Amino acid sequence: MTQLEKVHAQFIAEFGEAPSFIVRAPGRVNLIGEHTDYNDGFVFPLAIDRAAWIALRPRADATVCAISLDMDDRRQFALDDLRRPAELKWIDYLTGVAWALAERGYALRGWEGVLAGDVPIGSGLSSSAALELAAARAFHCVSGFEWDAAAIALACQAAENEWLGVKCGIMDQMISAAGVQNRALLIDCRSLETDAAPLPDESAVVILDTGTRRGLVDSAYNERREQCEAAARHFAVKALRDIDSPSFAARAHELDALSRKRARHVITENDRTLRARDAMNADDAALLGQLMIESHISLRDDFEVSSPALDAIVDCANADEACYGARMTGAGFGGCAVALVNAEGARSFVERVSACYIAATGNQPALYVTRACRGAETVFP
Ligand code: GLA
Repeated sequence: MTQLEKVHAQFIAEFGEAPSFIVRAPGRVNLIGEHTDYNDGFVFPLAIDRAAWIALRPRADATVCAISLDMDDRRQFALDDLRRPAELKWIDYLTGVAWALAERGYALRGWEGVLAGDVPIGSGLSSSAALELAAARAFHCVSGFEWDAAAIALACQAAENEWLGVKCGIMDQMISAAGVQNRALLIDCRSLETDAAPLPDESAVVILDTGTRRGLVDSAYNERREQCEAAARHFAVKALRDIDSPSFAARAHELDALSRKRARHVITENDRTLRARDAMNADDAALLGQLMIESHISLRDDFEVSSPALDAIVDCANADEACYGARMTGAGFGGCAVALVNAEGARSFVERVSACYIAATGNQPALYVTRACRGAETVFP
């Protein structure tokens, strides 16, 4: 049963009629451009074929009642009495989105519905952004406000930053809002302009979940952000985005060794991300793969956000004949890597890399071929 069929059937079982709307919003995988979004830089993610789904109907009162099939739980909240969570639960993602939309002047109506999703939680594929964007889309359906992908993504990011207390950049919400079928999306995280580029012909994107999860991601993430901001202050620019490679080369010696490494990652990664667009437009899978390999090395050695498990799975992937290039993806310290592979060899790549990784680490990985899908949308009616 697909997620769509699941929420549809459960909605009927629960409410005795067909839903008024079904919405979905995808998770994401980032091809290149890591830890650049909060430096006002460039990212190049794609929305994946795993998503959060909601089947719903409007309510006459200002209440949201939601049933999560995955959590086997039902919760409700009043739109005129939003409470900040003491301890995060799944419903707080919906409350947070309601709060952020209301803060921005969107007039919201209540709804009731059934939620389900297949973005693995905590693996670095943005299950939270998917849930936030699906919730925003549900509010859009019942409240009738205009859907501007960038504005809605910013509201969902604010929910995450200010309501849920997670200091993420804009990438995850933006790609879940604005993903394009069969395209990766170059996002300028300062202007939020996007440029959809085709993946190289005959290539496939494989997600490589190491099966490892790290608890310290949040503190390490915030520390990296602060280091980047301090380096930008040193150069008297708004963000590291504003320094190009030649100016950095001329002045890098002014920074202490650690700040220099952190800044070098961001500045070279922005370069690689822009070159990745040229590679895609030229249908050059080999060059795109090479840029991904360099990105991983920079994240591992300069930004220091990889992990032994990520390095092991990336090494197995890069050693494989079907692979153009692989790298860790997302915040790091565990979770997933991403590989660009020859489409014909994708299936055997998955088998060989799984075996190689198990032999190297003893961990059980999950590898799957994905494809680029549309961002948040109403799929029914
Ligand atoms: C997490 C954050 C994003 C981004 C990445 C690193 O996924 O949510 O905003 O900063 O890490 O590129």
